[in-house]
Amino acid sequence: MLELHSVHKRFGGLRAVDDVSFSVPAGVIKAIIGPNGAGKTTLFNLIAGNLPPTSGTIRFQGQEIQGKQPHQIARLGMSRTFQNIKLFHSMTALESVMVGRHARTKAGFISGMFHLPASRQEEKEIREHSMELLELLEIAEYADVEATSLAFGQQRAVEMARALAAEPKLLLLDEPAAGLNIYETAEVGRLITRIRDMGITVLLVEHDMSLVMDISDEIVVLSFGSKIAEDEPTAIQQNPEVIKIYLGEDEEDELTV
Ligand SMILES: Nc1ncnc2c1ncn2[C@@H]1O[C@H](COP(=O)(O)OP(=O)(O)OP(=O)(O)O)[C@@H](O)[C@H]1O
Ligand SMILES: [Mg+2]
Repeated sequence: MLELHSVHKRFGGLRAVDDVSFSVPAGVIKAIIGPNGAGKTTLFNLIAGNLPPTSGTIRFQGQEIQGKQPHQIARLGMSRTFQNIKLFHSMTALESVMVGRHARTKAGFISGMFHLPASRQEEKEIREHSMELLELLEIAEYADVEATSLAFGQQRAVEMARALAAEPKLLLLDEPAAGLNIYETAEVGRLITRIRDMGITVLLVEHDMSLVMDISDEIVVLSFGSKIAEDEPTAIQQNPEVIKIYLGEDEEDELTV
């Protein structure tokens, strides 16, 4: 699904991503973990086209995508959510998801954002599909509520529904459990597993180790921009180098499950 080969990103003298290679097979949940500042979000920005890599190749479904614009990569079948929730004020949960769907239609993303009319048939189709996604993520009862007034966990679900609305093959989730309590986190874990089971490949950045160990098929560990380990969860938990970087961290990053 996704292959990174020797990817680098420098910001001035800082090597934010340093010679990172890994691949994400279709149908898995793969997690990227590592301490704050390890380069996880930067890596997502390189994959999704929000930043160009300094060097290296990124292939998505066999096609080189490094340096392409975010909307071009999105059209190829990749969606993402952001570390900080980015929902528009004054849009309901349903409308927020419909915006994501518009990215795929003739009427386009911009007309979706400004509520310009798509054809009536198209609008109906978008509304129905968006409603199905709200149901899938178990937030259909909030369809007509302003998205930004929902509880944090529900806003995360709206964001995931919006990302899914474009019918991606690959979904990138940047810290989907950030700020959530343990119940909401478990819920998000269930939703991510459900998304994977629908056949959508998931690449996830996350600090919550119990969530990562619970749901991931494979894990990549970054430290200071470099990949220091890549393995299945049980092996990562026993990897001495991984344990070492996490023992130097504060409590929220402890490698406990
Ligand atoms: N646009 C930018 N310009 C300059 N430096 C940046 C930029 N974006 C990120 N950095 C730096 O690159 C490094 C990696 O940052 P990044 O946000 O990718 O880390 P992260 O692993 O996502 O951290 P966190 O867990 O805190 O979200 C950090 O030192 C950060 O300060
Ligand atoms: Mg980050």
